[in-house]
Amino acid sequence: MVNSAKEVRKITQKWIEQHLADVKDFVSLGLPEIDDRYNVWRVPIVLSNATSHLIGEAKIGLLGNVMDSTRPELIRTRAKRFINEVSAPDRKRQELFYPAPIPNKVILGDAMKVLEELPPDTAQLVITSPPYYNAKPESCEFIDYQEYLNFLRGVIIRIREVLSEGRFFTINVSPVLVRRTSRSTSSKRIPIPFDVHQIMASAGFEFIDDIIWVKPEGAGWNLGRGRRFAADRQPLQY
Ligand SMILES: C[S@@+](CC[C@H](N)C(=O)[O-])C[C@H]1O[C@@H](n2cnc3c(N)ncnc32)[C@H](O)[C@@H]1O
Repeated sequence: MVNSAKEVRKITQKWIEQHLADVKDFVSLGLPEIDDRYNVWRVPIVLSNATSHLIGEAKIGLLGNVMDSTRPELIRTRAKRFINEVSAPDRKRQELFYPAPIPNKVILGDAMKVLEELPPDTAQLVITSPPYYNAKPESCEFIDYQEYLNFLRGVIIRIREVLSEGRFFTINVSPVLVRRTSRSTSSKRIPIPFDVHQIMASAGFEFIDDIIWVKPEGAGWNLGRGRRFAADRQPLQY
């Protein structure tokens, strides 16, 4: 039985020497952890000069056998590609944190303009529910979907600057429907959250989780949610 991370590391290191001898100086091991769903150890294989950079994984059985792994050729290709790309350790903004110079305040205005006026590192949390492109087609102000994404990109990039390092940004978005214009055409579903994720990742945010807002029966848009909302005695219960 292998009982310690140290033993597991030793077994994996030996496997690396057998299968990846030519790149072994560029490859090291992350923290071995037990996966109790399958009763195996999982050992991350990382770049030596950027240990947060995962390039493979080895699966070690409790008896010390290498049960499975990322293909050695793939680990080798990833190692060679990233050796040059990731030469400096991942950089983080590490300035000292000063309390926000703005007091609690309600500001009414265009998000972009208001954000422009806030100094960097002033926000500790951002929660926003931006327009969903054409969710209300009659009041959609965007020329097309690309213009909508460009608008979001501008706001998201500015939010990244205004938020302090390590803080959360929660954004409420949903796919929307572009209705068909005739019986011979089809409606189209636009996956806004997927495109927003791309924008957020390129602005430097790390995805943490998606929270699905499940509305109870009767609350759906096309079931007259608006009317129900107005008539309900407890409209905010969901
Ligand atoms: C999906 S709704 C969210 C509503 C919000 N959760 C609320 O309870 O009022 C989007 C809101 O964004 C506002 N909005 C649209 N463009 C904006 C902009 N450039 N700056 C600030 N707010 C904007 C719209 O007026 C609308 O109220």
